[in-house]
Amino acid sequence: MRLMVVIASTRSGRAGGPVGEWVAESARQTTAEVDVVDLAAFVLPMLAEPHHPRLKQYTSELTWEWSRRVEAADAVIFVLPEYNHSFSAPLKNAINHLHGEWAGKPVGLVSYGGLSGGTRAVTALQPVLVNLGMRVLAANVEIAWVAEHIVDEVFLPSERHERALVAQLAALAALVPAVDVA
Ligand SMILES: Cc1cc2nc3c(=O)[nH]c(=O)nc-3n(C[C@H](O)[C@H](O)[C@H](O)COP(=O)(O)O)c2cc1C
Repeated sequence: MRLMVVIASTRSGRAGGPVGEWVAESARQTTAEVDVVDLAAFVLPMLAEPHHPRLKQYTSELTWEWSRRVEAADAVIFVLPEYNHSFSAPLKNAINHLHGEWAGKPVGLVSYGGLSGGTRAVTALQPVLVNLGMRVLAANVEIAWVAEHIVDEVFLPSERHERALVAQLAALAALVPAVDVA
């Protein structure tokens, strides 16, 4: 499985980096081929494409690069913070840039925040993903009080977090058709 891991927070001092690194590293322990897209490094402008993404008539090379990377993925994990009871603006902007590229892809969510573990961000994001035809997993990973699990910029998961991520990776792999290499 070619798995794209999207880190959806961009501010300095963010938890998204350490959490995203944990997710990517755990995925690398499986047979997945992992492509990490850190939206702090892969900086898309606020959507300025003149055409609806359904038409796939992109005018910017960066949008084409984004399109090719998403198209190449068999499955996606969004690593997302909760901001004001929703998900982050960079994530919505990155999603909005494309359309058909998302369709049919299994998607897992790794959310984090305070008390709610990012569940309100997940609840806000799910209809967006459904609208794009993504196959939204029930097997989410929710990390409450995320800052308490970060030491020296490294995310230290609890056993519960680890179990949830292993289950999510397995659920994603189960939805990706096996490639016949014969
Ligand atoms: C603008 C802003 C709004 C936030 N709103 C919420 C919220 O509604 N619920 C919550 O549980 N945590 C909230 N938090 C706490 C964040 O989830 C927490 O700081 C997390 O580390 C943010 O992700 P990041 O560090 O990757 O940016 C908010 C943080 C910021 C910066």
